[in-house]
Amino acid sequence: MSEIFTEYKAYIVFIHVISAVVWVGGMIAMRYAAHPSFMKIESSEQRLEHISIALKRLFLIVLPFVVLLFITAFIMIKAYSLSGSEYAGFAHAKEAIWSVMFINLIVMIKRRNRAEKAIVDGDIALAKSQLGLIGKYQVPANIVLGVIAIFIGSYLSSIF
Ligand code: HEM
Repeated sequence: MSEIFTEYKAYIVFIHVISAVVWVGGMIAMRYAAHPSFMKIESSEQRLEHISIALKRLFLIVLPFVVLLFITAFIMIKAYSLSGSEYAGFAHAKEAIWSVMFINLIVMIKRRNRAEKAIVDGDIALAKSQLGLIGKYQVPANIVLGVIAIFIGSYLSSIF
């Protein structure tokens, strides 16, 4: 594993970093650039519909990168023998962050699906509450966790 990693290190780290860029950057763009613009739409139904469609596209884009992030992290854990090293704590912290972010993402996908169905059924109050939870708490939580993971990554990268 170590020899293969050494040969392809630039590519593996690149895939790891670009995955983090797409996942965390996508959420920041959605929450702080697209969302305020959607809020200008007067009709609640249309507003929620647009937010729901944009979130669906965002989740579809980030999902493959979430998987790639995990695969490259797994390769680096093995290649740097992180688990048995003095940096194991940092690796475990990043694993925990990835896991919480992933579970949070799955819950957001389920919530968005519920909101989409509620819009079709004309239950605007339910759609609003579901999408509201995603925008107010879940996306910001994943942004904060992602930034922490990136900081730990920068620290690890200054060591290896
Ligand atoms: C799943 C557990 C994870 C492990 C074990 C892990 C491990 C690592 C390691 C060892 C490095 C240093 C690579 C090198 O320089 O050779 C790194 C860098 C990095 N990681 Fe992770 N990572 C994990 C999850 C994440 C997550 C969830 C994010 C963000 C969403 C992330 C973002 C980054 C970034 C941006 C870098 C590059 C930092 C730099 O080059 O300055 N990682 N990671």
